[in-house]
Formats: sequence, structure tokens, C-alpha cells
Amino acid sequence: MSDPRPIGIFDSGLGGLTVTRAIRERLAQEEIIYYGDTARVPYGSKSRDTIIRFTREALRFLREHEVKCVVIACNTASALALDAVREEVGVPLLGVIEPGARAAVATTRARKIGVIGTTATIASDVYAQAIHRLDPHITVYSQPCPLLVPLVEEGWTDREATRLIVAEYLQPLRTARIDTLVLGCTHYPLLAGVLQEYMGPEVALVDSAQTCAAELEELLTARGLRAPGGPGEETFFVTDMAARFAELGARFLGRRLQAIKVVGHE
Ligand code: DGL
Repeated sequence: MSDPRPIGIFDSGLGGLTVTRAIRERLAQEEIIYYGDTARVPYGSKSRDTIIRFTREALRFLREHEVKCVVIACNTASALALDAVREEVGVPLLGVIEPGARAAVATTRARKIGVIGTTATIASDVYAQAIHRLDPHITVYSQPCPLLVPLVEEGWTDREATRLIVAEYLQPLRTARIDTLVLGCTHYPLLAGVLQEYMGPEVALVDSAQTCAAELEELLTARGLRAPGGPGEETFFVTDMAARFAELGARFLGRRLQAIKVVGHE
């Protein structure tokens, strides 16, 4: 069994390109339709109701493009909106929280996991809850890091200022001697070097982009939804600022982006 329809990927902006990249590495033959809400990013500082409303609009857009499944690549939208919209989508829906939590639980030996993300993601407590459903004896140390998204978008991934801010945010997690750190935001894989440097080599970084891509591959295979041929095309829809998306996006995706189109919110 196979299914040629595209995979839909949704993010608040361009961060979801880290997830797109991980998906591409595993599923080269799949067509991808990406929707980045660049007009309204960031979601990480917004309320639950607003994030749910924006997510609904994005999912409606993707459904109109006949996608066979949807990946909510945005940690903030996954944390705040996935449960609210799950029943409405009509195709399999995958977020980044559960895969990240599973990978972290499989990795930790000390049973001390750190989770970093946007203000909204951390306030939702969804990562800690997902981890505790798998193992209630794990201690979770959660830390919002709102300044990291703009630093990454500025390209400040290897600057002294970034090191200072990372140190300030992560100091309680280092003191707590976590052995696993969940990168609970699309932008943080680009800071892996600085984060690892501060936490030390004995702390494992869990990149939810990688784990989400692995689960997507399993899901498509199990349900007979893999695309028959390849290589898969990709189209990037954004709600604003296509030129900036193209420029910054190349850093997230690791290559140039083709076919960027600007659309309205709905
Ligand atoms: N995509 C968001 C996330 O993964 C980060 C950017 C935002 O705040 O919208 O949480």
C-alpha cells in the first residue's frame, strides 16, 4: 500500500524547518506542504486561546491541500493546541511533545530530565506531564528560555552574549545534575553546540525534531501511507515575509528553499 498525497507540516514560522529537515533525511520520496505563520510568529508568548485559533486556521489550510497527515512541528502549538484540535483534523496528527518525551525517558539514567522551551510551552507543563505518564519517578526540571528564539533568528548561535544567556537559563538545571535535556523548541537544535558546551558532555541532548521524524516514518509505514515514488516536491507557504523566510530558512533547513508562496491567514 502507498499514498502519494503530501505530508503537511505546520509551524509558527520558520523553526519547523528543523523538523522538515529531519523528516527529509528519513523520507526523501514524500511530497511536503509547509505552512509557516510568519505574520504572527512568535506563538511562544501568546495565550492558549490564541494559539488554538491560529493552529485551527493552519490545519484548515493544510487540509484544503489534501494532506495525508499533519505534523505540528511547533512545540508551542503542540503543547497548547494539539489536544484541542486532534479530533477535528480527519487525518493522523503528530506533534513533537510525545516523541520528545519518549526519547528523553529512554535516554535518562539518573531519572532527572531538563526541559527548555518557550514561555507558553513550559507554562503548559505538557512535557513534564508526558514524561510522568511514562515514568512517574522521573524528576523534571522545566525552564522557559524566551530570549533564545530571537538570538537564533539573529544568527547568534555562537556568540559570547548567547553563552551568557544560556548559562543564566541553564544554571539551575546544571545544579540539579540532570543527565538529559529536551530541546523543546524548534529553534534550539541550532544552539546544540552552546547548550552542550554549558551542560557538559555527560548530558544528552534530546532533539524533538529527530524523534518526531522517526515517529512519522513509523506511522506512515504502519498505516501504508508511504509515498510510492520520489523525490518528493516541497512547497512552503508563509503568511508574510517570504524573503526573510528564504534567507533565514536556509540555515534551518541546511539548504536553499525552493517554491515559497505567501498566503493570507485563512
Ligand atoms: N516554533 C516555536 C516553538 O517550537 C518557537 C517560535 C515561537 O515562539 O513561535 O515553540
